[in-house]
Amino acid sequence: MSTEDAGILERAKERGSHGRQQDEGVLVIRTIAMPADTNPAGDIFGGWIMSQMDLAAGNLAARVAQGRCVTVAVEGMQFLRPVKVGDEVTLYAQLEKVGRTSMRIHIDVWARARYSKDGAKVTSAEFVFVSVDDDGNSRALPTE
Ligand SMILES: CC(C)(COP(=O)(O)OP(=O)(O)OC[C@H]1O[C@@H](n2cnc3c(N)ncnc32)[C@H](O)[C@@H]1OP(=O)(O)O)[C@@H](O)C(=O)NCCC(=O)NCCS
Repeated sequence: MSTEDAGILERAKERGSHGRQQDEGVLVIRTIAMPADTNPAGDIFGGWIMSQMDLAAGNLAARVAQGRCVTVAVEGMQFLRPVKVGDEVTLYAQLEKVGRTSMRIHIDVWARARYSKDGAKVTSAEFVFVSVDDDGNSRALPTE
């Protein structure tokens, strides 16, 4: 990565930073897994977790782009452990890379059982978002 590219990434990270930076990234969403979010087996539905991840990455992307963004790709989705009803679910976002219009955002999801002290990582993935204009065409990210 050139010095100039590193500078653009650093400025984008500044725009996207909100809250305390932790090892896993910035905490973007913390919610509770509810009975309405289960699959037929009674565990939390993977699609619900994926939508929370898309929301978390989209929130960071919108801050970085300072405008409308769309998901263009999701890569490397891994489900490491099941999430149970009542778990506290926490999503961390980390801006990995910026291009002219795109942002690569790593999302880690942790779950903590309601009465437990410790949590564990349950899912992670890389989201690529593109900054778009009002017509849905890709739009350059702000450089300042
Ligand atoms: C996102 C979208 C506007 C991109 O349009 P496009 O004509 O491919 O635009 P471009 O070719 O200018 O690409 C824009 C950027 O996206 C990146 N990109 C496009 N497809 C990609 C993919 N599959 N994976 C990773 N990056 C991708 C390009 O590399 C480019 O990055 P850069 O500008 O940082 O170099 C268009 O594909 C789209 O509208 N997709 C649907 C988005 C959507 O509806 N999402 C919600 C789904 S529920």
